[in-house]
Amino acid sequence: MSHTATPKPVRVHRAKSFAGTTRVPGDKSISHRALMFGALATGRTRITGLLEADDVINTAKAVAALGCPAHKTGDLWEVLGRGVGGLVQPKSAIDFGNSGTGTRLMMGVIAGNEISVTMTGDASLSKRPMRRVLDPLKAMGARVLDDQMTLPLTLRGSARLIPIVYETPVPSAQVKSAVLLAGLSAAGATTVIEKEATRDHTERMLRAFGAEITTETRGAKTAITVKGQAELQGRDVTVPGDPSSAAFLAAAAAIVPGGDVTIEGVLVNATRIGFYTTLQEMGADVAFLNAREDGGEPIADIRVRQGTLRGVSVPPARAPSMIDEYPVLACVAAFADGTTRMDGLAELKVKESDRLAATVAGLVANGVAAKVDGDAMIVTGGRGVPGGGTVATHMDHRMAMAFLVLGLGSDAPVTVDDITYVATSFPSFQALMTACGATFERM
Ligand code: S3P
Repeated sequence: MSHTATPKPVRVHRAKSFAGTTRVPGDKSISHRALMFGALATGRTRITGLLEADDVINTAKAVAALGCPAHKTGDLWEVLGRGVGGLVQPKSAIDFGNSGTGTRLMMGVIAGNEISVTMTGDASLSKRPMRRVLDPLKAMGARVLDDQMTLPLTLRGSARLIPIVYETPVPSAQVKSAVLLAGLSAAGATTVIEKEATRDHTERMLRAFGAEITTETRGAKTAITVKGQAELQGRDVTVPGDPSSAAFLAAAAAIVPGGDVTIEGVLVNATRIGFYTTLQEMGADVAFLNAREDGGEPIADIRVRQGTLRGVSVPPARAPSMIDEYPVLACVAAFADGTTRMDGLAELKVKESDRLAATVAGLVANGVAAKVDGDAMIVTGGRGVPGGGTVATHMDHRMAMAFLVLGLGSDAPVTVDDITYVATSFPSFQALMTACGATFERM
């Protein structure tokens, strides 16, 4: 998506009710991985429930450009893989649009192939740090031809990668995944050590594709080891509903009087549901119903009912399990009595936008007491949310969606300056929210 497109401002009105039973599109993290691992496998991978949003479509185009056709037939997406080390030289630069996950994981995929790939992205992605992935990949033998540490850059892979033991300097599933994916082609075992556990979809799905991968607790740390020169086999993948998309419906149900929403078939992997734990602690009624397992991941129907909300302290250790949900949690906190303190949020500064600064600015613009305190965000709520402000979304889908939720409970309408980027992760957001009771107005 081009950042030169005309912005699309939207105004949201206070909702009289917010209720319904619904489903959200497939999980973004699992969708990216299904396409990439399908490319690294031999044979055919069939994917049910792939998220058809811009970020993931860019990954589908990227694997196709690397010689692994990915297309939809009927309800299924299919990828024809070339096996570990089998990717082909693309004819031109690959554009990853707005997606940090697509870019960083693909760097790990590319690293083990004798190809040079120029990677580009939009204005938001071009500002985001890539050194965190490129440093370990360079230690394994990949090269960055132009020595750039942000996009655009050209990555040169190698068929002779060296296995490494790498402790991630920041809690990041993207860094962990990139190193493990490169490790698939290295001559020996590659280990990633995490101080704080991050989402584990790469480990689960690689195992299902036939990789030898072990996870071991070492004191407070976790060590994940993948055996190199791996052979992956194409397989069927079912993508569960995205808990990060469901969070917007859950948040709306928690703040609108009488709110009651059930979101069916949502991924409830423990590394992803910190937001729901926090919502429960704040006083919303959150229930996980029909817990089951599908495709190697736990799923459930999540029911959220409005309750009397109170401010809470969200510990830094919870951050990796709700890293994408802080903007919407801060908007919920505006309706909770007292102060909500969210600690350990340094990573929010390097997401699609600086979400720490942008969230606080959006709340303040709508009359809510909020501030940044180092790596923490502090919101004081319970005095009503005046609204009436315009929120700068900075090419960031989650900023737009979080503040459209804020407006459902505010006195005056809230305006977001551009909803264009909602299409990167949740194209049906407005339709699903409207079906539950939201009213949006294009301006
Ligand atoms: C993701 C990891 C997280 C998250 C992103 C998706 C993934 O990023 O914010 O939306 O699929 O691995 P970090 O690894 O940078 O924390």
